[in-house]
Amino acid sequence: MTKKLLGIQDLTLKEIETLMALSKDIKAHPAKYAKKLSGKSLGLIFEKPSTRTRISFQVAMAQMGGESQYLGSQDMKLGSREALHDEARVLSRYWDAVVLRTFKHTTIEEFAAHSTIPVINGLSNQAHPCQALADLMTIREHVKSKKPVLAYIGDGNNVLNSLLYIFAKTGAALYYACPKKYLPDSEVIREVEAIAKKTGAVIAEKETPAEVIHSADVVYTDVWVSMGEESIRDAKLEAFKGYQVNQALLAKAKHKPYILHCLPAHRGEEITDDVMEDAKSLIFDQAENRLHAEKAILIWLLK
Ligand code: CP
Ligand code: NVA
Repeated sequence: MTKKLLGIQDLTLKEIETLMALSKDIKAHPAKYAKKLSGKSLGLIFEKPSTRTRISFQVAMAQMGGESQYLGSQDMKLGSREALHDEARVLSRYWDAVVLRTFKHTTIEEFAAHSTIPVINGLSNQAHPCQALADLMTIREHVKSKKPVLAYIGDGNNVLNSLLYIFAKTGAALYYACPKKYLPDSEVIREVEAIAKKTGAVIAEKETPAEVIHSADVVYTDVWVSMGEESIRDAKLEAFKGYQVNQALLAKAKHKPYILHCLPAHRGEEITDDVMEDAKSLIFDQAENRLHAEKAILIWLLK
């Protein structure tokens, strides 16, 4: 069966650990991997803008001897000129793998169902698995405990969904605080709680940001208004009052936690400038780790 990465659910614990070890080795010894993907072509079809995901995958291919083609929303509208399943079948004859960034998660699922090459989710409204892999890598570089404690504050969105799965699968602890209206889908929570029961992970909702941050090794936030949600911006900004990651909130932690944000950040909304620039902020290392993690994902899918 063709391998794919539509969500962290597609990975076993063993595969997550393989990707972690590979990402770490690639970061330490990039030259070893210089020819790993020579002759390989990666396609990227993005319905939404991207800096990190797009560039890290394109640079990853170039640095490993392969090449890539990017099709943004101006170049191609999936499923509009012809059936999506025909596009998936045709592009499978040219490319060796494809990264899709879509609005609907079902677009990626349908593409993958008809594609004969590995499909990678480069962000959908439900999941951001590549981000979660780079995030776990970043956390492990700094938190030595086998069971790092993550406090997620903000929107119960695609980024949180993938963190929930990776934390549940690896047996770590994730406490989250979201406004009631913007909690993760109940189906996701049911699934991750079932996984956590088996792995010994702790996944729990808390009422307030202060409660989740109390014993955290790392605090994580993401934008309140994701791409595609611009029309509900005002309602969301209202709902997220009190959920900003700022110095007053960090002061409520037992020990000052490391700080993560997948970026792009809306400085002054979900996170303040001084927290972004704090000595405990790992945000730019986290962005760099996307490159090492994308290389590992590509090698794992293509070899
Ligand atoms: N974090 C992330 O996926 O960034 P981009 O939207 O720039 O790809
Ligand atoms: N939740 C954000 C993540 C961007 C990387 C969005 O979907 O826009």
